[in-house]
Amino acid sequence: MKKTIQVAIDGPASAGKSTVAKILAKELGYIYCDTGAMYRALTYQAIKNNIEVTDEKQLVHLLKEMIISFEPNKGNQKVFINGEEVTDAIRLTDVTNAVSAVSAHGEVRKELVKRQQEIAAHGGVVMDGRDIGTAVLPTAEVKIFLIASVEERAERRYKENLSKGILTSLEVLKQEIADRDYKDSHREVSPLTQAQDAVRLDTTSLTIEQVVEKIRELIQIKLNN
Ligand code: CDP
Ligand code: CDP
Repeated sequence: MKKTIQVAIDGPASAGKSTVAKILAKELGYIYCDTGAMYRALTYQAIKNNIEVTDEKQLVHLLKEMIISFEPNKGNQKVFINGEEVTDAIRLTDVTNAVSAVSAHGEVRKELVKRQQEIAAHGGVVMDGRDIGTAVLPTAEVKIFLIASVEERAERRYKENLSKGILTSLEVLKQEIADRDYKDSHREVSPLTQAQDAVRLDTTSLTIEQVVEKIRELIQIKLNN
């Protein structure tokens, strides 16, 4: 049987995690799991149901009633909550600004980490998030910690929004990204931090293909071992 491995890609917002994770998963024929979309889905549902982002008990109750599913779509992924498509809705600013508060709760993380580990149990997987190498897949064969300057990451989001016809302020984006980095890195439960055995890659001046190539090399070493 062909050897399969687990690839964990962590890092701050807009470092390029999901872009490279999707490309690599497709090449390898592996499952791609966007864990950020799961935290975003819960945040979206909480806002819709007027549940406070500080109310851990209600959030967990809501989450237990949610089936979060993914469907491949032309190199991207559609996201569904109980069958309703929320792919674009979970990327809107109100969700983005509330998601770090929702994801700071230990019981919320426990439930989502369990679901993520179940997804990974089905074979080769490329998973991206904040705590994949440290908490979700601590024994992943390849662990990557992607970083890039805040300026570069805000610029990337700015261009991405523009390509969707959304004009945003670069300064506001920079502030939002810096705020989220701070909250994600300073929460008590599974903060954003590099796993000891992760390879750190600064993508500030790298193209997507250059980043993919570097990770591809690391994956090949493990697959040939
Ligand atoms: O794509 P972007 O970098 O904006 O973020 P994301 O990957 O969609 O993640 C959204 C938020 O979910 C993060 O800012 C974290 O607060 C939370 N998250 C987390 O706590 N743990 C993960 N494994 C993934 C995301
Ligand atoms: O998943 P994460 O939030 O880490 O970032 P992403 O959504 O994969 O990437 C954010 C944006 O940066 C996307 O529009 C990518 O095309 C772009 N990007 C880039 O321009 N250069 C890279 N080396 C990586 C990503």
